[in-house]
Amino acid sequence: MLDEEEDQMANGSLKPLLNVLHGNRQDPVPIWMMRQAGRHLPEYMELRGRANGFLDFCYTPSLATEATLQPIERYDMDGAILFADILLVLDALGQCVRFEKGVGPIVEKVEKGGRLNKVPVQQAVERLSPVYETVSRVSSRLADNKTLIGFAGAPWTVALYAIEGRGGTDKSQARIWAHQHPAELALLLDDLVEVTAHYMAAQAEAGVNALMMFDSWAEGLPNDIFEQIIIEPNKKLVKRLRELKVTVPVIGFPRGAGVMLPDFADQTGVNAVGLDTAALPSFINRELPVSMPVQGHLDPLLLMAGGDVMERRVIELLDAYRDRPHIFNLGHGVLPTTPIPHVEKVVELVRAWSAD
Ligand code: CP3
Repeated sequence: MLDEEEDQMANGSLKPLLNVLHGNRQDPVPIWMMRQAGRHLPEYMELRGRANGFLDFCYTPSLATEATLQPIERYDMDGAILFADILLVLDALGQCVRFEKGVGPIVEKVEKGGRLNKVPVQQAVERLSPVYETVSRVSSRLADNKTLIGFAGAPWTVALYAIEGRGGTDKSQARIWAHQHPAELALLLDDLVEVTAHYMAAQAEAGVNALMMFDSWAEGLPNDIFEQIIIEPNKKLVKRLRELKVTVPVIGFPRGAGVMLPDFADQTGVNAVGLDTAALPSFINRELPVSMPVQGHLDPLLLMAGGDVMERRVIELLDAYRDRPHIFNLGHGVLPTTPIPHVEKVVELVRAWSAD
C-alpha cells in the first residue's frame, strides 16, 4: 500500500470502495455497476455519435474520459470504471476487431494451435497508450472519495473471442482445444497473460486505484478445465502484476464459476471476487473467507424490471452480505434498455440501508 493510502486509512478518509477492496467493511455499502457507462444513458449515446465507431471512441481520451465520468456525474456512484473494452488487447496484438451494430464484436480468428504474438508485447502495450492517457485525465478530475477501477479481460475470455471469432457461442471449438491440446492452449493463454499484465500495470502507473479481470465466459466448464483455463491464467496474471510492482487491489470475476468460486478465490491471489447473478449467499458466506470482499449479484434484468420486487431484492442482498466487506453491484452489465430511475432507486436504497 502507498504511504498516502496508509495515512488516509488511519484518518478514515480513504475512498470507501477502495477501503472495502482492502478487506474492510464499509457502511454505507459502496456501489458501482458494471457497464454503468453505456447505451442506457442518453449522454453516452450523444458522445458515441461523435466517434468514428466504437474502437475510435475507446482510443479517443477526450471522449473516453467523459464516458467514464458520466455515471459518476449522474448517479454519484462510488466507483468509476475506465471506459475501454476487453477486446482492445486483441486489436493491439494485430488481430482485427470490429464492432457490428446489432451483432456485437467480431474478431479475426487465430489458427488452431496458433499464438497471439504477431506484435511484440512492448509494441502492443504502447499501442494502448490512449487508454493510459484516459486514466490520467479521469484520475485528475475524480473527487477524492471516488475509486477509479481499471480492467482487462482475463486470458480465457479474450482467447475465446480470438478462437471462436465472437462471444456468446457454446465455446465448443475452444473447449475441444482445451481437452485435446492443453499445452498449445496454455501457450496462447500465456501470450495473453504477459501482454495483459503489462497493460494493467500501465493503467496502474497512470493512476487507477484498483484493477478488475473480467472472465465473462467462465461458466459451464468441467472442473479440470476450469482449473486449467480459468484459475491457472488468472493466478499467473496476478503473480505477474505483483512482479511488475503493481500494488493496487485486484478483483477477479469468473462469471458462472458456481461451485468453483471458492477455489478461484483461494488459489488466484485476487483481493476480491465478483459475484454473478446465480451466486448463492449461503454458499458464498460459508465457502469464502469472511474477510474476502465480494461485489455484484443483482440481476441486470431485475434492474430493468424495477418496482417492489427489485427494491426487496436490493435489501435482501445487503442483508445477505452484511457480515463481510461488500460492494453493491450487478451480476453482469447494465442492459441498454434499463430505465434510469431504476438505477437511481438502487443507489438511493443502498445509501439509506444500514447494517446496524
Ligand atoms: O461501464 C463500463 O463497464 C465501462 C467499460 C466496458 C465496456 N466493455 C464498454 C462497452 C467494460 C468494462 C467492458 C468489458 C467487456 N467487453 C466485457 C466483459 C464484461 C462483460 O460484459 O461480460 C466483454 C465480454 C466485452 C466485449 C464486448 N464489448 C461485447 C460483448 C460488446 C457488445 C455487447 C453490447 O452491449 O453491445 C462490447 C461493446 C461495448 N463495450 C459497449 C460498451 C459500452 C457497447 C458499445 C456500444 O454499442 O456503444
